Amino acid sequence: MSDLDQLKSSITADIVAASDEAAIEAVRVNALGKKGSISELLKTLGSMSPEERQTRGAAINQIKAEVADAITSRKSALKDEAINARLARETVDVTLPVRSSPAERGRIHPITQIIDEITAIFGDMGFSIAEGPDIETDHYNFTALNFPVGHPAREMHDTFFLPPDANGERKVLRTHTSPVQIRTMETQKPPIRIIIPGKTYRQDSDATHSPMFHQVEGLVIDKTANVAHMRWVLEEFCKAFFEVPSVNMRFRPSFFPFTEPSVEVDIQCDRSGDVIKFGEGTDWMEILGCGMVHPNVLRAGGLDPDVYQGFAWGMGLDRIAMLKYGMPDLRDFFNADVRWMNHYGFRPLDMPTLFGGLSA
Ligand code: DAH
Repeated sequence: MSDLDQLKSSITADIVAASDEAAIEAVRVNALGKKGSISELLKTLGSMSPEERQTRGAAINQIKAEVADAITSRKSALKDEAINARLARETVDVTLPVRSSPAERGRIHPITQIIDEITAIFGDMGFSIAEGPDIETDHYNFTALNFPVGHPAREMHDTFFLPPDANGERKVLRTHTSPVQIRTMETQKPPIRIIIPGKTYRQDSDATHSPMFHQVEGLVIDKTANVAHMRWVLEEFCKAFFEVPSVNMRFRPSFFPFTEPSVEVDIQCDRSGDVIKFGEGTDWMEILGCGMVHPNVLRAGGLDPDVYQGFAWGMGLDRIAMLKYGMPDLRDFFNADVRWMNHYGFRPLDMPTLFGGLSA
């Protein structure tokens, strides 16, 4: 075999062995690059006699052309292979179901849902939302609400007290949302129409009580607000909240230091089946406390009881959430069990509205 044939077969073997585009490029540089084996051969032509150059030159150029062709076609074959391998690797199965977005998968806690529902109802009646601190002074939680120091009603609240501060003052975890009544009267001029949803705390724990629970408070103050208005507001609320066309309500005399007169409200229901039905039946269920704001409370809030009057109510949110959505144990509300949330939670984009339906 001539030296040229040998060179050709060795380069051909390299071309066949090249397994990717980088390898074939290396073969090309080794053969046809500036210092490649064929290029080096071509450089020797200059020192040959014209006759020798004619035969040898033609032979080298032929090998050069064949090698260049072989490299080009191997290169394009390798390129195709690489593309096909990548296509196979990156195949997308367009028939797979779409993965739902986090906003679809998340769930709204029933308490948040209830607060959104109540906000929608009272917002529609022209109320706004007020908030206050969870850690309260004794003044706002009790004294300003007409619980005199030493009054037994303070004991009814099973209060959590914080350790005394440098001045000996003991703050409390608010036992109800009523302190925000005073804070609002101090900062807003009547007419006042607010609701106050929030966390409240008492030392109590069983299937229907939790040391942290939720209330919503309502307060209306102006010059003529009266019991008839209170009754209408609460009745409209109950109809909208329980999503029934009418409710029967029973007003029972009661006692709260901050209202006079004070009333507890029951609504008629039917407990004979598996689920409670509202607006019908022969049973009664207590749902809230209310009354006309006591003159001492108006005074504590900086208002003149000879000019202003009003009504207020307070309601446990956890309990009405349990009733409305059939959740048997309050403690589950705070266990952060994702299975419970998936079952009882609400879809985040279904905002409760009066026109779209509260719980639909
Ligand atoms: N604060 C009361 C409680 O926690 C509930 C309550 C009753 C609030 C009557 C009121 C009201 O505003 O008028 O038991």
